[in-house]
Amino acid sequence: MLKLLALETTCDETAAAVIAENGDVLGSVVASQDALHSIFGGVVPEIAARAHLEQLLPVIEETLRRAECQLSDIDLIAVANTPGLAGSLLVGVVAAKSLALATGKPLVAINHLHAHIYACRLAAQKDVFPCVGLIVSGGHSSLYRCSSPTDFHYLGGTIDDAAGEAFDKAAALLGLPYPGGPAVSKAAEAGSPTAFDFPRPLLQDRERLDFSFSGLKTALRYAIAGPGNPEQLKAQLPPQTVADLAASFQAAVVDCLVEKSLLAVRRMKAKTLCVGGGVAANRLLRTKLQQACAKQQLELHIAPPELCTDNAVMGAIAWEKFRAGELSDLSLDAIPGVMRGA
Ligand code: KG4
Ligand code: ZN
Repeated sequence: MLKLLALETTCDETAAAVIAENGDVLGSVVASQDALHSIFGGVVPEIAARAHLEQLLPVIEETLRRAECQLSDIDLIAVANTPGLAGSLLVGVVAAKSLALATGKPLVAINHLHAHIYACRLAAQKDVFPCVGLIVSGGHSSLYRCSSPTDFHYLGGTIDDAAGEAFDKAAALLGLPYPGGPAVSKAAEAGSPTAFDFPRPLLQDRERLDFSFSGLKTALRYAIAGPGNPEQLKAQLPPQTVADLAASFQAAVVDCLVEKSLLAVRRMKAKTLCVGGGVAANRLLRTKLQQACAKQQLELHIAPPELCTDNAVMGAIAWEKFRAGELSDLSLDAIPGVMRGA
């Protein structure tokens, strides 16, 4: 059975996985950098790149050990080369190219966003294409028409903050820890989603399959302390107010994501919706998507929580590209800013 070594260093997780040709995961390691970035309330690119540099080789070694194989047993090398943080991507790309050169094995480039959708295919253990794909992560909130595992067409996405970024910034405003998504979601459990009437930006615009979360973030900031008032912003909020703000904020983000995803599905005349990325771990989003898709008799696949946040298992999409003959050579480069990679 052929074996693939996939590397993932697009943001702040250093990950590797060995995946057999039939999709079996033989070994997988994710080294999170959350502890390094949490004091800053967000990912610091330079710190992320340096941490990848330190962690990638030990992560690869541990992955091979878990897979009970050696580098010489690997038949294919794959790396996520877009989109992401420039320095972070470079570490993975250079490592993958070096491994491909040293072993003489073929190299496949992975689009990280496509891989997030492919996590749904892995969990479903059956074909999920064609589908509409929603990727909601720290850096992206994008809708794609996914005709096949190797044919993604960008439909729309955020015009400012990504959903995960909005959660992270909301957490910082509320005095909650990083990463903000899980913290806001936990705080929201004790709050009322209707306590604050936050806007649902672009929701009424049925022409566009786009999102906008920065105004929502500003609405949260003004709900905490009116315009100006920096001192008041620093004051400790009562726990119930934090819970109500978190619940109302979360409800607004989720409403936008659910509505626009269903709009995209209708417009594409699709029957299946696949959802991946860190924010897809959000419980309210999962529940609301399930309810909405059940009502409209749509097939819904949401990546399981362990495959929502960054990992290298979703790099199994490289097998699809390999089979389609989409190989890369040693001129492969990191492409940080491609939001709409085809
Ligand atoms: O996909 P991911 O691991 O990394 C990127 O590619 O960006 O996503 C990380 C993002 C963070 O912004 C984090 O706050 C968010 O996913 N996140 C969540 C939850 N778990 C992680 N957001 C909302 N609810 C969650 N339960
Ligand atoms: Zn991601």
